[in-house]
Amino acid sequence: MNDILTKLMAFGVVPVVVIDNADDAKPLAEALMRGGLKCAEVTFRTSAAADAIRIMTENFPEMLVGAGTVLSVKQVDEAVAAGAKFIVSPGFDDEVVDYCIEKNIPVLPGVVTPSEVIRGLNKGLEIVKFFPAEQAGGLAMIKAMAAPFTTLKFMPTGGINEKNMRDYLSFNKIAACGGSWMVKGDLIKNKEFDKIEQLTAEAVKVVKEIRG
Ligand code: 3PG
Repeated sequence: MNDILTKLMAFGVVPVVVIDNADDAKPLAEALMRGGLKCAEVTFRTSAAADAIRIMTENFPEMLVGAGTVLSVKQVDEAVAAGAKFIVSPGFDDEVVDYCIEKNIPVLPGVVTPSEVIRGLNKGLEIVKFFPAEQAGGLAMIKAMAAPFTTLKFMPTGGINEKNMRDYLSFNKIAACGGSWMVKGDLIKNKEFDKIEQLTAEAVKVVKEIRG
């Protein structure tokens, strides 16, 4: 397994960040790290994403920062130039996936069907995102879909929280759970970094309880 993906799996949980103001990136990263999580997926849903990634990776090189909601090759370039170490997309775009493979950047495209899983496997992917997880059938769907594919792991995202993450993490085909519950937009906007730290610490505790 690729080193970055191995690290991602070890974290067990990946906070999905939507950040409007890049000035919040540093205190947010500090809160995540105080909570025990040196990892974040910063989504390209806002124009602050690339700056936020740059601020996090420059200030905290020990942090594993990836880019989420990456929909184009141009965004892959922006994300990588800013310091992103992995790329996540809500869906499966061949151009984005092929480009990341060519550039040797771990990529986790979103899938919900066995056909998409096969496309990923045929491109040599080791982990795919299962999105939107809860709405697309949740853990039961992942279990059914994982059965024919013995090597592939999933990163469910969408509707995951501190409660249902336990069930997901108990299944050995889950690489990590992604989600925004510990870094909700309002918490960032209102600069509730202590709350973010607390929710992060709770999520980290669950990972430890389940995985030891
Ligand atoms: C994502 O981008 O992966 C999802 O929007 C995160 O889903 P959540 O907000 O339900 O955690």
